[in-house]
Order: sequence, then structure tokens, then C-alpha cells
Amino acid sequence: MAQGTSPGGITQTHTARGVDDGIGTASRVTGRRGLRQNTEASGTRSGYSGYLLEDGAVGHTSNPEPRLKSGHYNTNYGNFQKELYSRIRRDAYGDDIGQNSWLTAEEQDSFLSRLKLCPGKRLLDVACGAGGPALRIAAKTGCSVLGIDVHPDAISAASSLAAEHRMVGLAEFRVEDAARSLSFPDSSFDAITCIDSINHLPDRRAVVSEWVRLLKPAGRLLFTDATVVTGPLTNEEIAIRTYAGFYLLTTLACNEEALRQCGLRKLAIKDVTQTMAESAHRRKAARTAYESELRAIEGDHTYETQQNFLAVVGRLAQERRLSRFVFAAEKPGDLRKQECAAISVTEAT
Ligand SMILES: C[S@@+](CC[C@H](N)C(=O)[O-])C[C@H]1O[C@@H](n2cnc3c(N)ncnc32)[C@H](O)[C@@H]1O
Repeated sequence: MAQGTSPGGITQTHTARGVDDGIGTASRVTGRRGLRQNTEASGTRSGYSGYLLEDGAVGHTSNPEPRLKSGHYNTNYGNFQKELYSRIRRDAYGDDIGQNSWLTAEEQDSFLSRLKLCPGKRLLDVACGAGGPALRIAAKTGCSVLGIDVHPDAISAASSLAAEHRMVGLAEFRVEDAARSLSFPDSSFDAITCIDSINHLPDRRAVVSEWVRLLKPAGRLLFTDATVVTGPLTNEEIAIRTYAGFYLLTTLACNEEALRQCGLRKLAIKDVTQTMAESAHRRKAARTAYESELRAIEGDHTYETQQNFLAVVGRLAQERRLSRFVFAAEKPGDLRKQECAAISVTEAT
């Protein structure tokens, strides 16, 4: 077992055996910061090609510095590396793994066996945010990771986190728009993850189909969808939940259908709404504890908007009206030649 600790608490503990856990354990906003989906312009596989910013400009994502930004992610990534925000993540999640999602370290551990990663394998983390979760997977399994995100501030935070953890050889981060066809050849990756981000991508079937193209035969896909409609929602709740930009609210059946249509073999589907309920409540409480500092950094409007967002996410999750599910699936193909040596996996359902 290789073991080492880097600054910030990412402990490298990868083994040739891999990890043995199973899953088990645009709205239109004008007159304020925001984006709206532009369905008229052409150029993407889904007919969706950019966002209209409040000034009416189109934020085309083929631009190397795409203007796909909202106040929410600007605030989160602009401040991500500040000690105060790290402290809030620690208070909220127990461990600061550099997440900007509902994911906890414990939950990520429960996902790992599904990915079958070990040294020599390559992971794509789609919409990786500030890169912490992808770096933690690389540190735990020894695989290499490529993280992509449309937000340049997220990628610069991820790149500096990789440098800080001396993982530059193992991890790379790039600005890329995952709503479009991606710039990688077929069969480039052994596994693909996308945590709490697929709801920002407009065409579920097209997105999953692109991921299948990028997976090697027998490659693994694991994503969480944090906006699965499982109960009645008011227009006001939807507006608050989706204020950060483009969101696709789906159903469980819609996700299952996308996996089936793309020819993936379903490994596990699990309701992980409780993690989201707890993460949202705890993040809100942690931020409340530093209210005056946060108001000084973010301004009153952003602070209150984020607190309101967290309150609504927590309530909708607690009442099981807007749920979060994890989907794990496998691309058909022969695994034997590529399997991690002596990998031992408990595959829970
Ligand atoms: C809730 S955050 C999750 C980030 C990360 N997966 C994590 O667990 O910390 C959602 C991420 O999706 C990214 N995103 C939104 N639209 C995207 C797109 N079209 N292409 C790539 N990333 C996108 C945002 O910039 C943001 O970093």
C-alpha cells in the first residue's frame, strides 16, 4: 500500500486491490446576475449552444474562457481556497474534501468499489468543480484523473489544489463544456464520475451517450442526480432551487431510460437523498455560525440567497419532494484484460 499525507488532509492510500466498499453502506434572470438558456442558436448535439447573460450577450462555451457563470458558482469558487470556507466545509461535512456538492467523504468511499479503479486506470470527473473529490479518488486508488468543468475559477482552484497536494502527475484539470461533445477520443477512460452536476446538462440521453463513447469496454459510470422530482413542488421552490443557472429536473424513470437507451448495464441505483438533506442543513448552519464574516465577503444579497437556497434544498430533500439518486452502470465489454490485479469488490445493490 502506498501511503502519504498531503496538505489539506488528502491521504494517499491506494492499493493494488483497489477499494472494497459497495454502494450501500436556465431560468431567465434579467435585471440581476444570471443566465438563461439560449435554445435558438445552433451548434451543439442537443441544439443547446450557450447562455444569454443579463446583458443579452451569448456565453458560447467554445470560448476557452466561457462566460457561463452565475453568482452562486462565482462566489463558491472565488472564495473556495479561503480558510474560512474550508472551515465551513469541515464543519458541514466532517471532512473538507474540497467538495462543492452534497458529497461527503463517507459517501464517496461507498461509491468507490463501483469504479474499479487502481494504478494505471484513468478516471474522467465531469463537472469536477474545485477538484477535491477527484483528487481524493486518485489518492485513494492510485488511478490518474482528468477533471473538466465549465467554470474557469473552478479549474484554477482544482489545478492549484493538485499542485498543493503534489498530485500534478496524476491529476489534470481543464475548462470544458460538458453539455457539448467532449474533445477526447473514443474509449479514453476506465471510469467516469459526475457528482451533483448532471442536472446542469440539458439533454440526459445525449450526455450519457457521449460518456459511453468515452468509456472503454467494461468501463464504469457513476453519477448522482440531485434534482429528481419525487413529490409536489411549487414554482417558488423551483425558482429558489434553480437560481444558480440552467437546471434539468428529471424523474427516476428518465434516468433509467437514458441508461437503457445508451446500452449500459445497470449496476445499482440508490436513493441518497438523506445525505443531501443533512449536507444542506449542516452547510446552512455552518455558514450561519460565520454570518458576519460571510456577509462582509459575499455581501448581504448573496449571503441571504445562498442561505435561502440551502434551506430550500434541505427542506425539499427532508420531505422527499426533490430527491437525489446515485446511478452506477457498466459499458458492455470484456473486463478481464483490463481488470485491476486481485481487485476485490463487494457489489451491493
Ligand atoms: C454542484 S457543483 C459540483 C462540483 C463537483 N462535482 C463537486 O462534487 O464538488 C456543479 C458543477 O457543475 C459545473 N457545470 C455546470 N454546467 C457545466 C457544463 N455545461 N459543463 C461542465 N461543467 C458544468 C459547475 O461549474 C459546477 O462546478
